Amino acid sequence: MSTDPATIVLGIETSCDETAAAVVRRDALGRAEVLSSVVASQTEAHKPFGGVVPEIAARAHVEIIDRIAREAMADAGLGFDNLDGVAATAGPGLVGGVMVGLSFGKAVALARGLPLVAVNHLEGHALSARLAADAPYPFLLLLVSGGHCQLLTVEGVGACRRLGSTIDDAAGEAFDKVAKVLGLGYPGGPALEALASGGDPTRFALPRALLGRKDCDFSFSGLKTAAARIAQAECRTEQDRADLAAAVQAAIARQLAERADRAMALYVQDHDHRLFVVAGGVAANRTVRRVLEETAAARGFAFLAPPMQYCTDNAAMIAYAGAERLAAGLTSDLGAAARPRWPLDEASALADPTHKPGRKGAKA
Ligand code: KG4
Ligand code: ZN
Repeated sequence: MSTDPATIVLGIETSCDETAAAVVRRDALGRAEVLSSVVASQTEAHKPFGGVVPEIAARAHVEIIDRIAREAMADAGLGFDNLDGVAATAGPGLVGGVMVGLSFGKAVALARGLPLVAVNHLEGHALSARLAADAPYPFLLLLVSGGHCQLLTVEGVGACRRLGSTIDDAAGEAFDKVAKVLGLGYPGGPALEALASGGDPTRFALPRALLGRKDCDFSFSGLKTAAARIAQAECRTEQDRADLAAAVQAAIARQLAERADRAMALYVQDHDHRLFVVAGGVAANRTVRRVLEETAAARGFAFLAPPMQYCTDNAAMIAYAGAERLAAGLTSDLGAAARPRWPLDEASALADPTHKPGRKGAKA
């Protein structure tokens, strides 16, 4: 244990196709300093399959997790004796991978007599804006990645409330699936954005999901089906493909903005401070960012998107969420289980049948 009033935490992230470790220092006021952040992506291993293969992901995590963790410690210039705790993602995610990182975290905690914090991956994303900017609680968060699409109020650590989430695909999944139809390979989001830059977003009409609904839920599966039909029937030239990519990108951005707008209207009913944060891999998309920034400005919200390296999966956000929990006395025991599904806001998830966990339910 250090005598510093700050806490230094090693974070481990293995819930999807990134093996990541990071060391974060949290001061007594909750400010973060990222001492190191190492991310090893498995993209190349999954590319031939057009998506993440769970068994390949788990094996790849096993092979490199100890090296990545040692690298994070070396980059931070610290030894294990300097740590105040170990935080590992315990879900939601591909459970084979989650077990690798959580077991590794448990082993370090046990060997070094350190407290363990089993972190919800979504809480890591939820707090990620605080890694590089002053983002005081509470704030409104749109979390948009390949696995998640939800709107949350973030009141503090352990106090997130979900306002809405996808009833089928996540936004990043929609980008990836349409990219696959257009033959753009995996991961598709960045490639689709590049193709869309030369396209006319108004040429093809696409369906607008959940129009007229007053809630903050999302749906992208109809969009994907319509895009696949247009791709097959009407896309002959490179310009046709660019126009379809632009239309899909605009439709995804518009839906995100519409639901974010609704969430802002609800949020201001019981909050004074207006801050809107977008996090997750899809926040890298410039059209999505621009449309959300405009929506936030129209509602009088400040807009914040974490730097890209903290938007996509990383362990700094897990270490920071762990440090926040440690400071609040919220530690886990060594029996903590890996959870494939783990809603951030369990109470409202259980009360809402649309989002019940299950084969067809939303992922988190
Ligand atoms: O947060 P992330 O790295 O991983 C998780 O899913 O947790 O997000 C990856 C997702 C993928 O679906 C990827 O296609 C999408 O984010 N993405 C993008 C862009 N960059 C990444 N989607 C649209 N435009 C982009 N520029
Ligand atoms: Zn993620």
